[in-house]
Amino acid sequence: MIKIGIVGTGDRGTSFVRAAEHIPEMKIEAVVDTNPIRMEAVIKHHHYPPVKKFNNLDDLLDANIVDVVFITTPDWTHSELITKCLEKGYHVFCDKPLAITPAQIKEILIAANKSSKMQFMGFNMRYNPLFTKLKEVTGNKDIGDILTGWCYSGYQGDGYFRRWHKFKEKSGGLIVHKGCHILDIINWMVDSYPVEVYATGGQKVFGGNKKWPGCHECKEIETCAYARKLTDDQMKLLEDIYIKAATVDGYTRNYCVFGPSDVPDHYLLIIDYASGARVIFEEIFFGTGLFYMGFAGEKGEIVTGSFIPDSIIVRKKFDRDKEKRYQVQKETKEFHGGADIYMLKDLIKSLETGTQILPGFKEGARSAIIGVAAMISIEQHKPVNIEQLLPIELLQ
Ligand SMILES: NC(=O)c1ccc[n+]([C@@H]2O[C@H](COP(=O)([O-])OP(=O)(O)OC[C@H]3O[C@@H](n4cnc5c(N)ncnc54)[C@H](O)[C@@H]3O)[C@@H](O)[C@H]2O)c1
Repeated sequence: MIKIGIVGTGDRGTSFVRAAEHIPEMKIEAVVDTNPIRMEAVIKHHHYPPVKKFNNLDDLLDANIVDVVFITTPDWTHSELITKCLEKGYHVFCDKPLAITPAQIKEILIAANKSSKMQFMGFNMRYNPLFTKLKEVTGNKDIGDILTGWCYSGYQGDGYFRRWHKFKEKSGGLIVHKGCHILDIINWMVDSYPVEVYATGGQKVFGGNKKWPGCHECKEIETCAYARKLTDDQMKLLEDIYIKAATVDGYTRNYCVFGPSDVPDHYLLIIDYASGARVIFEEIFFGTGLFYMGFAGEKGEIVTGSFIPDSIIVRKKFDRDKEKRYQVQKETKEFHGGADIYMLKDLIKSLETGTQILPGFKEGARSAIIGVAAMISIEQHKPVNIEQLLPIELLQ
């Protein structure tokens, strides 16, 4: 039985408590949250199993009662928590993104290189059946090595403008916070590390100067297209978990999406890789869920996306009649299409066999640093060389 300590009992921490109920080899032994009011309310409302409770990570680490620590706190806190776990000799799982600044990423990679413990990155998207299959198909080299790629993600992402994610100092910007998922998928397919990023972006829909504390106190609730009307139960949850708990740390949610924010709601990146590959990635947060991704090599092209659901098409340049269509297993409704469960099973297998299956912190760094570089590029209107931000050997 692998004993887990979860740090951060928010949305993500709670989703792992739920997922663990489906994995007999893992037990949530303890939880940590710096906000005792929120932690108690979450445990009660979400019916956690019996767990040991702590209000800071040091106490959990000193208690010596868990095998692996899960970091599910907001992005800006990851580096300090991860380095503590590694220094005290724990295996660590960090949910994405790894961190949000070059200094934080460097600090983690240096601690990781000194540690003999396992370091897992929470890139559950790799475990989505579509991307697992895409990796298999690109890996068999029907199109040759990947030379170029493109990805469009039309995300319905107003939710990110209702919480801490909309502040750069907390999330690094949505390119780092959310974009890191797809950036990791691209990095994984290209199988290389980034050397230069050029980006453009800004705010077209969200952000602004509205002063409403949130939809629950807004006088425009009947006319606003983005109004989120809460049921009585949802309002009670908001009050217990956030509004009352905000007396401790000021953190609440359900902010107005048209209130102040300093992160782009759309961006377009051109990423150059050490392998010579060049990939374009565009993401918007006011979309409908439209998605496509494709890659080209010297021998052909691969494409997948919303217009060919649950499918991947490969076209070979010198063999046009032989277009191949791969069918992909359907996603399940829960746990990010089933990905969380597959990922946790591989985490358990890694710990039991001593062979790392999940991506690690180097992969976490590769995707986070592209997001950081993109934010700088947007601000400075010029390409950003990754080596200016981080010693490149840390990414190799
Ligand atoms: N892989 C995925 O699909 C996925 C999905 C959601 C969130 N995430 C990631 O999970 C992390 C948490 O996101 P969330 O939405 O659950 O956040 P959240 O705001 O819902 O919860 C975070 C919790 O951490 C606590 N916390 C803050 N600082 C702390 C500290 N230093 N020590 C202990 N507890 C602390 C807060 O009090 C809060 O209860 C983020 O990094 C996010 O990117 C990943």
